[in-house]
Amino acid sequence: MQAGAQSVSPKRQLSDEAFKNVQLLKGIPVDEFMGAMGLFSAATSMCCLECHAPDWAFDTPRKITARKMIQMVNTINQTNFSGRKVVSCWTCHRQSDRPQVTPTLDVVYGEPIYWAPDDLFQQAPGAPAPDKVLDKYIQAVGGAERLAKLTSFVGKGSATLFGGGFKSAVELYVKTPNQRTTIIHQDLGNKTMTFDGHNGWLASAVTPVPVLELTGGELDGARLDAELSIPGRVKQVLSQWRAALPREIAGRPVNVLQGTGTGGLTATLYFDEQSGLLTRVVRYANSAMGRVPTQIDFEDYRDVAGVKVPFKWAFAWVSGRDVVELTEVQPNVAIEAARFAKPAPAVAPR
Ligand code: HEC
Ligand code: HEC
Repeated sequence: MQAGAQSVSPKRQLSDEAFKNVQLLKGIPVDEFMGAMGLFSAATSMCCLECHAPDWAFDTPRKITARKMIQMVNTINQTNFSGRKVVSCWTCHRQSDRPQVTPTLDVVYGEPIYWAPDDLFQQAPGAPAPDKVLDKYIQAVGGAERLAKLTSFVGKGSATLFGGGFKSAVELYVKTPNQRTTIIHQDLGNKTMTFDGHNGWLASAVTPVPVLELTGGELDGARLDAELSIPGRVKQVLSQWRAALPREIAGRPVNVLQGTGTGGLTATLYFDEQSGLLTRVVRYANSAMGRVPTQIDFEDYRDVAGVKVPFKWAFAWVSGRDVVELTEVQPNVAIEAARFAKPAPAVAPR
């Protein structure tokens, strides 16, 4: 199944070839390297430029500290946890540049602020059978027959990017079984996410690499996003399906399933218990500095040729969050193959 996932593309770019001054995070694919940078930002609550100025290669005092931290984390994991990546930047930092040393008694005796389940889980006793939840989902979106008849769609709408108050125009192209392209039109140039059925890319004006080639768990993740756009093959996209006990998101009970991809992906899918629809995907790609999460929250399901398609979603990554809202969707239109080809670097429109 999906042989493309594990085969290593020969032109795959590695961190120390792409960049000038990589001393520790060497020999890893560039997208994994960028995932690690996103983890640093998320853990310390610093934007890229707080460690990087005047350019990416220059060693600022913070960057030098961060390098020491990388070594410290690796040593902790090696010497205490047989190399398992159980301690990460997040373990201590949790969105602060200076981790807390002393328990704050207000917190100890206050309302529990936040509870997150473990990233990875096994089938829980008493949890529903994964097949049942997936069957219900297929029924909820319209059933296998209608899914089979929807082979493509083109969507238009708008996106709001994290930190930006204004809306950008969005185009979405989907073709079964697993091609998907999202284009967000920005002043700096388009942000394009593409999965062509085998390969995936992210082109953006604001990343250090103009066109990032996806590998490993990120590539698996792009495939999952594409497959879930018209989810007729949902059962086959991931393997080793398992269910946790149902829980609640925003006061609504959800069934929680997890599956494994071929390239190192783990994905947790949340299905509304009542409607059966998919409300959230949290997918994890492995990196040298721990798991890099992506979370997609779906809402506003509407009918597209008999199939329920989410018209609104929030796509969150460790360095950015886009909220997309579609206003129109055209089913079963012919889409030129070039729409799913490797995107060109972002260029600012004149
Ligand atoms: C907490 C500090 C920190 C933050 C925040 C951070 N980085 Fe880094 N960055 C580093 C360190 C440390 C290295 C060097 C890693 C090594 O030597 O292996 C590095 C290296 C890089 C490089 C390679 C530069 C070169 O030419 O050698 C790029 C590109 C980069 N970071 C981009 C980013 C981006 C984009 C972000 C924001 C998403 C970011 N970084 C956030 C610490 C940081
Ligand atoms: C075991 C706990 C722990 C882990 C894990 C950890 N740090 Fe730290 N880090 C600290 C502490 C404690 C400080 C503050 C030290 C001080 O006050 O002098 C700190 C300080 C820093 C600073 C300096 C902040 C400033 O004031 O400018 C940076 C940058 C940083 N850490 C990055 C990282 C990165 C990146 C990782 C993951 C590779 C990481 N840390 C993992 C405990 C940790």
